[in-house]
Amino acid sequence: MNLILLGAPGAGKGTQAEVICDKLQIPAISTGNIIREALKNGTELGQKAKSYMDAGSLVPDEVVIAIIKERLAQEDCKNGFILDGFPRTVPQAEALDAMGVVIHKVLDIEVPDETIQKRLSGRRVCESCGASYHVDFKPSSKGEMCDKCGGKLVIRKDDQPETVKERLKVYHESTEPLCDYYRKAGKLTVIEGQEEVAQTSALVLKALEA
Ligand code: AP5
Repeated sequence: MNLILLGAPGAGKGTQAEVICDKLQIPAISTGNIIREALKNGTELGQKAKSYMDAGSLVPDEVVIAIIKERLAQEDCKNGFILDGFPRTVPQAEALDAMGVVIHKVLDIEVPDETIQKRLSGRRVCESCGASYHVDFKPSSKGEMCDKCGGKLVIRKDDQPETVKERLKVYHESTEPLCDYYRKAGKLTVIEGQEEVAQTSALVLKALEA
C-alpha cells in the first residue's frame, strides 16, 4: 500500500509513520529526516536546505521532488511506502502524479494549533540516531540520553516557539490545500489526532483496514 500522511508540524506524522511501518512492514519516508541527515553530513543538499529549514520555511519544490524521485526508485519501496512530510504543496502532489506514482490512501492527522505548540516545545530528538521523544508524553527512560542508542537528546532548532509559529503559518497556506486535492480524488481520511498516541494509532490502523 502506498500512503501519504498529511498534518501540521507536530501533528504526530512521524509517530504514526512508525506504527504503520511496524504493522505493514513498509518503509516510512520522511523528507524532513532526509534533509536533516544531509545537513548533519554537510552535503550540498544540506547546505541548500539549511536556511529554509532554520527559518521554518519550505525547501524549494524542485529540491524535495528530486529527493523523493530518487528515494521511491529504491528496492525497498517496491511493496509500498509511507510518505511523511511529502507532498507539502500542490505542485509537489502534481509532481508525484506526473511520476506515475499511485497513492492508495491519504491520512490527514488533525490537531489544533495550541496543542501543536505544547507538543513541539516538549519534543526532544536524539542527535545520533534521530529517535523522537517528548518530555511529558514519551520520555526516554534514560533522561537526557536516547533509549535506543545512548545518544544525547536535543531540541530541534525549528522547534523554537517563533519558528513553530512560522511553520504553522506555512502549513495553513501551502499544505492544507492538499486536503482538498486528495478529497476530490476520493483518497482522504481525516484522523482526529489530539488525543493520546495510542488512541490516534487505533484510528490510523482502522482507516487502513477500511
Ligand atoms: P519535517 O521534519 O517533516 O517536520 P514537520 O512536518 O514540521 O513535522 P514534525 O517532525 O515537526 O512533526 P510530526 O508531525 O512528525 O510530529 P511527531 O510525530 O514528531 O520537516 C522539517 C522541515 O523540512 C520543514 O519545515 C521544511 O523546511 C523541510 N521540508 C521537509 N519536507 C519538505 C517538503 N516536502 N517540502 C518542502 N520542505 C520540506 O510529534 C511531535 C511531538 O509530539 C513528539 O515529541 C511526539 O512524541 C509528540 N506526540 C506525537 N503524537 C502525540 C500525541 N498523540 N499526544 C501527545 N504527544 C504526541
